[in-house]
Amino acid sequence: MMPGTRIFEEAGSVAAYTWCTPLEDVGYVRHVVVHPGYRGKGIGRLAMADAAALFRAAGCSRWVLNVKPDNEPALRLYRSVGMTERYLSTALRMEWSAVDTLPAPPPNVVARPADATEDAALEAAFGLPKKTLSNARSAAGRIILRLEDLNDAANHRVGVASFDPGFPGSFPFRVAHPSYARALFEAMKPHARPEFSHIGAVVEDDAALTQSLLDHGAETRLRIVHFEGHL
Ligand SMILES: CC(C)(COP(=O)(O)OP(=O)(O)OC[C@H]1O[C@@H](n2cnc3c(N)ncnc32)[C@H](O)[C@@H]1OP(=O)(O)O)[C@@H](O)C(=O)NCCC(=O)NCCS
Repeated sequence: MMPGTRIFEEAGSVAAYTWCTPLEDVGYVRHVVVHPGYRGKGIGRLAMADAAALFRAAGCSRWVLNVKPDNEPALRLYRSVGMTERYLSTALRMEWSAVDTLPAPPPNVVARPADATEDAALEAAFGLPKKTLSNARSAAGRIILRLEDLNDAANHRVGVASFDPGFPGSFPFRVAHPSYARALFEAMKPHARPEFSHIGAVVEDDAALTQSLLDHGAETRLRIVHFEGHL
């Protein structure tokens, strides 16, 4: 977290911090936290203005963040700086044994490690902020997987996942069809740590996939609203 973390102090006391990651044209606000004793005094607004200035200086034209749907102070803060709700994401967890019950993908859809040279095309195909995958590669232990349609090898919009075996979970986790999810999970399994009987995935803006996983034994851990705005 150190690169991109900003601490806000008052008389030597920590009042707030932000963690912001510029991803080429998109600025990602990962954390905004004001110390409980300092809330309601305009520091959250100041911290967002600071984040916006940091992103503009880095050449970003948009900014994005995720927030829980019931976090009213944060929702109001983000709307008041011109950001708007774009979609709902759901962090799900399922037992590895439940993965075996998921619908089988068609035989022409297969999973394999994504090559670093494919990152940009995969990011573009799924509308992920640029550098999402290439930055994830630099995190220790992260596994980047993709799906390929053997009948349409040039198609990058089949499936992609960034798997962190230590969490354990995948974010992003994107598939072109809910029935493709099983292929990605099965490709993660050889990398899964034996101490975890479950696997997590954050499903973004995909109600059909969320429902399919819930129907096959997944449980909701967290629901988050994705906000976006122009800078
Ligand atoms: C959300 C948070 C960062 C706001 O920080 P803050 O310093 O209290 O906010 P500010 O005083 O700058 O207020 C800015 C705006 O936020 C909104 N807001 C702040 N507190 C609010 C509250 N209790 N209820 C409703 N809206 C609130 C308002 O829109 C406010 O503008 P206004 O005063 O003109 O109405 C702070 O509550 C916090 O740290 N919460 C816990 C951590 C967290 O949830 N972070 C966001 C995770 S995504």
